[in-house]
Amino acid sequence: MLLRQVFNLGNPLMQEILAKLDAMRSAARLGGGEKRIAAQHGKGKLTARERIELFLDEGSFEEWDMFVEHRCIDFGMETQKVPGDGVVTGYGTVNGRLVFVFSQDFTVFGGSLSEAHAEKICKMMDQAMKVGAPVIGLNDSGGARIQEGVASLGGYAEVFQRNVMASGVVPQISLIMGPCAGGAVYSPAMTDFIFMVKDSSYMFVTGPDVVKTVTHEVVTAEELGGAVTHTGKSGVADLAFENDVEALLQLRRFVDFLPASNKEQPPELPCTDPLDRDDASLDTLVPENPNKPYDMKELLLKVVDEGDFFELQPDYAKNIIIGFGRMNGSTVGFVANQPMVLAGCLDIDSSRKAARFVRFCDAFNIPIVTFVDVPGFMPGTTQEYGGIIKHGAKLLFAYAEATVPKVTVITRKAYGGAYDVMASKHLRGDVNFAWPSAEIAVMGPKGAVEIIFRSDIGDPGKIEARTEEYRQKFANPFVAASRGYIDDVIMPHGTRRRICKALAMLKNKALQNPWRKHDNIPL
Ligand code: HXC
Repeated sequence: MLLRQVFNLGNPLMQEILAKLDAMRSAARLGGGEKRIAAQHGKGKLTARERIELFLDEGSFEEWDMFVEHRCIDFGMETQKVPGDGVVTGYGTVNGRLVFVFSQDFTVFGGSLSEAHAEKICKMMDQAMKVGAPVIGLNDSGGARIQEGVASLGGYAEVFQRNVMASGVVPQISLIMGPCAGGAVYSPAMTDFIFMVKDSSYMFVTGPDVVKTVTHEVVTAEELGGAVTHTGKSGVADLAFENDVEALLQLRRFVDFLPASNKEQPPELPCTDPLDRDDASLDTLVPENPNKPYDMKELLLKVVDEGDFFELQPDYAKNIIIGFGRMNGSTVGFVANQPMVLAGCLDIDSSRKAARFVRFCDAFNIPIVTFVDVPGFMPGTTQEYGGIIKHGAKLLFAYAEATVPKVTVITRKAYGGAYDVMASKHLRGDVNFAWPSAEIAVMGPKGAVEIIFRSDIGDPGKIEARTEEYRQKFANPFVAASRGYIDDVIMPHGTRRRICKALAMLKNKALQNPWRKHDNIPL
């Protein structure tokens, strides 16, 4: 309207252009029309534009390519054109910080990806790379635009290529808010984080019908690739949310933790939580009985600024905890063994889960704080046949190659290879603390004695005495501390203070790995 007032100089041509502009904007905003918008709302889903509005700061969205149309002339498509072609792209801010976003519009050809639709996404990604800002994808699509055939597949591959080029350069986050099937799943799969909406989103390589034909399994779309499946069983997705609104608001909270690119340091927020805040309850967190579990999340929540911890993959491989928090206002990635689940053992899933997280943190200059209570790697044929050797090596590799500040606190057990893996001094841990309750040894006292004093196994008295001897010798932090593997034995109540000081000291840490084309992490 404002345009009209400014330019309405009685020039009929200008009036015509402005009328056309208005009409095209209205058509683009209407997407697939009132009926399809109502159907979208009927499924409990917001439209592509409503999602962007909710996600970005009010009034910050700058849309690009609203007038792009597909170029398909088959199957009557030449008469069916919707400006924008099923995806809304552009940039805006989240709490004042720049992000690029695309939001697929299911009301336009089911949000399916045409060549033009892909070009819009690629253009936005290219720009995000040039200026160094996160790429957020709000996915709601029936996949390749069937009428376009290979042009659509080409479009997907163009997006895939950019996902790979952007990996480790700008954070990429996918929020799955509808269907995502077939090869289309591979774009989100290559982004750093995948969030899903419960009951309205799914991801699978082949849908329930094909599954039934090929494997004779009968499974619903939700069971096969819904949010609960991917956050609990497959580990493909990081978080599941109840609905679009919750997902988008949590995504805003999440973006606040991340640097805009690999050239930036993590954002710093003003911190009102004193960095020297002691917490006396931590002195009794570790039970006297070494076989009794305790909740490692309690430590995390008591240490981070204002108890604000953004956990990722909370329902998958629960024996390890990963997520972001802040220490004195700055983002930190936390990795912690969870003694409540499988005694905190490292297994295939937990190793993979933590390894990818450590690599994300390292790529984006986010310091890593590791809390260790690990009795070792999980034994058994399931693990060995599943390749625990290679998967466990992923975590080892990730920690060893990471050059960001690494602060480690051993709260209790740090046994065997898992001691080495969990950001030990030997893997260039910068500051390695242990609580007085730490036990740093090749294995637990009982297991150790049963091996090295096997001949005494028939004599419980002797075994008990040997076990006590071993416990006295190794089930403490002092042997490791005497070698300098542990920098200090700290009181649990002062953990926050000590970590904050360590991170402050490490702020300007500079460490570079040798030049190479890329490493060869055991995939
Ligand atoms: C063109 C599509 C479409 C597609 C849906 N539509 N998917 N148009 N290409 N891929 C259209 C429908 O024709 C319909 O148009 C509208 O979108 C909504 O679809 P409905 O089927 O009415 O919706 P719903 O019942 O909710 O079912 C959604 C759906 C279903 C499950 C996504 O539409 C579906 O199965 N679509 C096909 C999915 C598919 O096979 N895609 C190709 C996968 S292969 P109208 O005009 O009626 O509103 C792939 C390869 C990628 O993606 C490879 C990358 C390497």
